[in-house]
Amino acid sequence: MATEQRRSALVTGAAQGLGEAVARRLHADGFRVGIADINGEAASALAAELDATGETARALEVDVADVRSLRRCFADQEAAWGAPDVLVNNAGRTVKRSVWEIEPDEWDDVLATNLRSYLVLSQLAGSAMRERGWGRIVNMSSFAGQQGGLVAGAHYAASKAGALVLTKIFARELADAGVTVNAVAPAAIRTPAMGGEEDAAAVGRTIPVGRVGTSEEVAAAVAYLVGPDSGFVTGATLDVNGGVFMR
Ligand SMILES: NC(=O)c1ccc[n+]([C@@H]2O[C@H](COP(=O)([O-])OP(=O)(O)OC[C@H]3O[C@@H](n4cnc5c(N)ncnc54)[C@H](O)[C@@H]3O)[C@@H](O)[C@H]2O)c1
Repeated sequence: MATEQRRSALVTGAAQGLGEAVARRLHADGFRVGIADINGEAASALAAELDATGETARALEVDVADVRSLRRCFADQEAAWGAPDVLVNNAGRTVKRSVWEIEPDEWDDVLATNLRSYLVLSQLAGSAMRERGWGRIVNMSSFAGQQGGLVAGAHYAASKAGALVLTKIFARELADAGVTVNAVAPAAIRTPAMGGEEDAAAVGRTIPVGRVGTSEEVAAAVAYLVGPDSGFVTGATLDVNGGVFMR
């Protein structure tokens, strides 16, 4: 596909983990991808791997907990490719902490990183999408936001529950403008933090599907939600959890 015909996507927290898998998948699907992350070095390495010319993949160093940094990041992508057609809010901070031990500063930082950043970027991207008459926003939530979480702290779970509500609010605001807003709620996805094969297998035995999920499976859910066949799906939460939580 010629570069000028490619839609553009902005993916936060895209230097590793689920965000990286999303960035790789969307790039493979023909999007120009802005790889936004606080780890600028890793973001640059991924962008260079995807497209050394920078025409279809660009790194953006950003601290999503810092509103000025977020606005700079958005403006940077806008200057290069125009406002994004697709926004994937994914950057997040997971903190394991007993609810009795959460300090207010840590609460504020987790909420700023995981939720306020979704608000600010959705405001910026959503306005441009509305004007353009097409857009896709996907918010990475979590099983923790639905059920309170097993290991992650209350601040993390609250931020992920907030992301689900924010999804519905923006979905309603933008529904008549060709813009869909959806959430993905993963659980039990294989990550480096999960340990080796044996640990993953042990976790897998506790899951109805009998195994842990992969970041590529989460990326495939995002690819569907930003793709051509999902225009009638908005305000929804797509659970990618191996059946751990059914509703
Ligand atoms: N992995 C799972 O099993 C799982 C399950 C449910 C939800 N999630 C959600 O998926 C998203 C990604 O999770 P992951 O497991 O890939 O995490 P991860 O820690 O592997 O990756 C997170 C990425 O976000 C970046 N990041 C962190 N703070 C940032 C900040 N302030 N500014 C910019 N970038 C920042 C990190 O540098 C990293 O590249 C998160 O929102 C997480 O809550 C993950």
